[in-house]
Amino acid sequence: MERRTLLAAGGAAALMTGCVVQRVPATNSAPAPSTAPPTTGAPATTNAPAPGPAPLAKVADIPAGGGVILKDQSLVLTKDAGGKICAFSAICTHQGCAVTGVGNGTIDCACHGSKFDATTGERVAGPAKNPLPAVAFEQRDGAIFKAS
Ligand code: FES
Repeated sequence: MERRTLLAAGGAAALMTGCVVQRVPATNSAPAPSTAPPTTGAPATTNAPAPGPAPLAKVADIPAGGGVILKDQSLVLTKDAGGKICAFSAICTHQGCAVTGVGNGTIDCACHGSKFDATTGERVAGPAKNPLPAVAFEQRDGAIFKAS
């Protein structure tokens, strides 16, 4: 299915790169109806879906006007005052330090003072010449997940 079709389809989940919203169809988590005849005397089994991937963060845990740095994933999640979530690499494009803070509209690297716009990843100050790369993610059920 082409991305344009996905955009038209709408759905409950949103796949995002950086801060650009791209709608994807909602996942049908209900188990398919069984056509097998009922069994007797056999141990009970469940049709429960396998647990999905753990969320990277809950949307509510990302402060508005700030962000969170996920060191293990080398990822920084930001939220603007309106609640829009963005995701970027947490590796500074200057010399590869991990960024150290988010605030006042910027993602900051303490190594040499580079600052990046928290909604675009563009460099706004310091020696870095390139923006922080945007990272694709999914926002659903009040949480942020790694894009599948
Ligand atoms: S590594 Fe980030 S400013 Fe130099």
